[in-house]
Amino acid sequence: MSDREQKKPDRPYKVCFVCLGNICRSPTAEGIFRHLVRKEGLHEHFLIDSAGTSGWHTGERANSRSRQVAERRGVVLNSRARQFEAADLEEFDLILAMDEQNYSDIVTLVNGDGQKEKVKMMREFDPNPGDGNVPDPYYGGMDGFDHVFDVLERSCRQLLDTLGNESGKP
Ligand code: 4NP
Repeated sequence: MSDREQKKPDRPYKVCFVCLGNICRSPTAEGIFRHLVRKEGLHEHFLIDSAGTSGWHTGERANSRSRQVAERRGVVLNSRARQFEAADLEEFDLILAMDEQNYSDIVTLVNGDGQKEKVKMMREFDPNPGDGNVPDPYYGGMDGFDHVFDVLERSCRQLLDTLGNESGKP
């Protein structure tokens, strides 16, 4: 048993992944991060969710192409789309925007001290961050979905390592 497994936290560290539709990028990030956390026996340490800045796809499962790519790589996507709301800025400890537009839409909803600092760009955690955005694969081909999975797998791995190394979190 590793050091991190030994102690059950007083409360889970709450992470929300956010994109535009909550059917492609953020459900993929949610699924990968859940998978890594479970694999490391850290599921009691985290509460993991995702949301979209739009409500266009509310209630829908992840896009079938996102699910297909993820399942091929051993990750099951079980989310249902929902719209990000101002209350999420209070609720979550860390909010990860997939691109700059998502980031600015999220921070528009800030309504309290310390909330803006909770919002970060997902590719801050990518060792190979490109232009800093996770590209929107929705209108492109399958190769775009594979690329998004690669980017998010690297970023989620680094995110988990970073959170695990920060004292007291989780
Ligand atoms: P996501 O991708 O933000 O990664 O979920 C999109 C999904 C749907 C649309 C755009 C992007 N759309 O225009 O409906």
